[in-house]
Amino acid sequence: FRWVWRATYLSVAGLLGYTCYVIYLDRHPAEQKARDPNKKTLVILGTGWASVSLLKKLDTENYNVVVVSPRNYFLFTPLLPSCTTGTIEHRSIMEPIRSILRHKRASVQYYEAEASSVDPDRKVVKITDNSEVKGATVETEIPYDMLVVGVGAENATFGIPGVREHSCFLKEIGDAQHIRKKIMDCVETAAFKDQSNEEVNRLMHMVVVGGGPTGVEFAGELQDFFEEDIKKLVPEISPRFKVTLIEALPNVLPSFSKQLIDYTENTFREEKIDIMTKTMVKNVTKDTVEAEITKPDGSKELIVIPYGLLVWATGNAVRPVVRDLMAKIPAQKDSRRGLAVNPYLVVQGTRDIWAIGDCAVAGYAPTAQVAAQEGNFLAHLFNTMARTEAQEARIQELSSNLNLVQGGTPPAEAAQEIEALERQLKKIRNVKPFRYTHQGSLAYIGSEKAVADVSWWNGNLATGGSLTYLFWRSAYLSMCFSTRNRVLVLLDWLKSKAFGRDISRE
Ligand code: FAD
Ligand code: NAI
Repeated sequence: FRWVWRATYLSVAGLLGYTCYVIYLDRHPAEQKARDPNKKTLVILGTGWASVSLLKKLDTENYNVVVVSPRNYFLFTPLLPSCTTGTIEHRSIMEPIRSILRHKRASVQYYEAEASSVDPDRKVVKITDNSEVKGATVETEIPYDMLVVGVGAENATFGIPGVREHSCFLKEIGDAQHIRKKIMDCVETAAFKDQSNEEVNRLMHMVVVGGGPTGVEFAGELQDFFEEDIKKLVPEISPRFKVTLIEALPNVLPSFSKQLIDYTENTFREEKIDIMTKTMVKNVTKDTVEAEITKPDGSKELIVIPYGLLVWATGNAVRPVVRDLMAKIPAQKDSRRGLAVNPYLVVQGTRDIWAIGDCAVAGYAPTAQVAAQEGNFLAHLFNTMARTEAQEARIQELSSNLNLVQGGTPPAEAAQEIEALERQLKKIRNVKPFRYTHQGSLAYIGSEKAVADVSWWNGNLATGGSLTYLFWRSAYLSMCFSTRNRVLVLLDWLKSKAFGRDISRE
């Protein structure tokens, strides 16, 4: 036993020591080299999964790097549904871009602005700053030698009337905060004096449209919030609380394996979450959703569903800046879902524009995993390109010396160096095209259960339940951007377990 105690003690002390060391390094970054405006200007649009993965691995000494994004932080989206109910506080999953950039070897310029258009002929990006301090919109242009578009996607509404005006989305921190406030607004208003039965039922009806992973995870988090906190603190309205998930296809989580779809649907039934499949929402008003149900005999019926909170999670649509760029490139005329790219992620029809993440069409699903791998690939490609250019310049210099200098460098040595450099060049020029490696899919489904489709040897392992939930938690904890994020998320989990979620409405 003494040995077990000693080993445990040493491991905990080691882990604490290491954490303190990482925190110290984080708080005391080394001096940065100044930007070199004589180097090629690499403009990166966006601070999401794709662009930040690129920035993390990019050797910024090789380029004059400029980052443009309206969001001055990276957002760890997989834990965003947990922020809607206060299981996790929103700042725990945000990492300031300034802190990420400050840890690069050479300094990087950041502008908090939105790219409004790209002119591929003049090689400039028009950027717009809507700062409240200025009180006016400021527009300017940034020239680029190389451009990376990593602006993600916006929410798809398919032009369905009323969606933008009346529903909440779940993509950004502001969306999660808005949902959190609205849930409590519905609860407090339903508990208000002299409400009719019909009105309480409406207010306590939480409708989620879209049975993809976003809709499923949010529905699970919402039901947990109700069971673990609202039911105890506001018992008078609790029998009326209801979550309904509406999905146009015959089942939820279409990208997961059949066994996990069944497991999720059964778990939802146990949790008393109502699933309406083969139901397509056609119209949204202030208080109701109008949807068309396809019945087993194929006939259709239009139903009206009153709601208090409506969360719209029906996937991605192309952002205006991307649509505008696509319209300027003839080779993009047949692309619908984003910028079509070649195997090196170069935007088809251009030479110096790359696209990564949800705004790029490379043949993969729009996920953080794909975006991060594309960002890593591009960093490797750009680092290699810079090394290639440096080697080529050296070869040119040595070659001209060979021709001009009689006395200086002995020609045999110079020739040998050229030969060695050319061998190296051949190796680094041989960058393989981008290939995505799927690690698996994970989703939280409520009641401390999760589902996972994980790549295992050469096959696939489909698993669901409480153990998978522990795996889900540890996987996402380890994937958090920084030690600070990891510690904050862990503390939030402990805090909400011990004291319950904070239901105050700020
Ligand atoms: P984003 O991460 O969306 O980043 C886009 C960036 O571009 C942002 O910084 C934005 O501010 C910026 N931007 C926007 N417009 C402009 C402009 N005009 N000019 C300059 N910058 C601009 N995927 C998984 O693999 N696993 C998960 O568990 C998972 N969970 C998710 C949960 C939720 C709730 C959501 C919404 C998504 C989830 N995803 C998950 C999907 C994943 O988040 C996206 O695929 C990923 O964020 C795409 O990365 P991106 O860099 O392309 O875009
Ligand atoms: P999604 O595209 O995966 O799912 C949207 C769903 O909405 C579809 O099933 C569609 O049939 C349905 N829908 C569309 N219009 C409808 C209508 N009018 N009425 C009813 N249903 C309608 O979108 P989601 O969930 O936002 O995910 C976007 C991307 O992010 C996906 O690639 C997903 O894999 C990824 N993601 C991954 C997560 C994870 O791995 N845990 C979590 C969240 C997102």
